[in-house]
Amino acid sequence: MSDLQYIRVEWDEDLAVVYVDRQEKLNALNAEVVQELGRVFNDLRDDDHVRGIILTGAGEKAFVAGADIGELAKMDPLGGVKVSRDGQQVFARIERFPKPVLAAVGGYALGGGCELALACHLRIASENARFGLPEVGLGIIPGYGGTLRLARLIGLGRAIELTLTGRMIEARRAEEIGLVSAVVPRDELLDRAKALMREITKNGPVAVRLALESIYLALDSSPGNAMRFESALFGLLASTDDMREGMTAFLEKRKPDFKGR
Ligand code: COA
Repeated sequence: MSDLQYIRVEWDEDLAVVYVDRQEKLNALNAEVVQELGRVFNDLRDDDHVRGIILTGAGEKAFVAGADIGELAKMDPLGGVKVSRDGQQVFARIERFPKPVLAAVGGYALGGGCELALACHLRIASENARFGLPEVGLGIIPGYGGTLRLARLIGLGRAIELTLTGRMIEARRAEEIGLVSAVVPRDELLDRAKALMREITKNGPVAVRLALESIYLALDSSPGNAMRFESALFGLLASTDDMREGMTAFLEKRKPDFKGR
């Protein structure tokens, strides 16, 4: 990952903090940023050391201020389809990442930046964060999965209102409507993100992974199939050392020592 121009990865033990770092353009997503994001999530997926990822924007002003408008301005119809598909594929890789991915939003999360946060499993924001899908004001629509994921997260009516007005909302409003799960002071954002991740990663890693799989599969399947899949995963967990350890630790009144197998 040494040849990356726009993505930086820092480590805090087994948590990877992934920065989108293109500060002169408020971390806007040009084709290279999207491509590098995809590569980083590929590499991290294959790294057994990773227990969770915090995705954030470098600098004080922005998480990601959207797709790069300078690039979008030049697209033709087929180019537009490609931009959208490339972004969707990378964002799907984030959504399907087998360990929890949390977006720590410390400023503008607009357009593709808001969609990027939506592709993460969890979101927290700083007090100065702003969210919105301003695409219609540019004569386009969200193209990185936002028309699907926003409605799923905050409900159809509010998603339609935000998408059609292109309005920007403040962090507190984002929390009220369920777009983020907490709002914290800017200088505490990363620490609070890490604390939330640690609350997750202290649990059985295989259970966390399969819970994510079950939750996301349920969004795309019939209730009957989703229930059957949940039962299969539930049963599968009975084969893990982690299950034995978790339950034995409870019965022995001690903290579990999970090995992730
Ligand atoms: N694409 C390309 N460049 C962007 C960008 C984007 N989505 N968002 C910000 N930038 C660039 C600006 O053009 C500017 O570059 P310059 O210094 O070379 O002129 C730089 O980032 C700083 O942005 P600026 O607009 O000067 O900051 P601001 O504090 O006045 O405004 C925003 C901040 C976020 C309100 C404003 O930049 C904005 O509206 N950005 C576009 C948001 C958007 O529509 N996103 C969806 C795209 S599909």
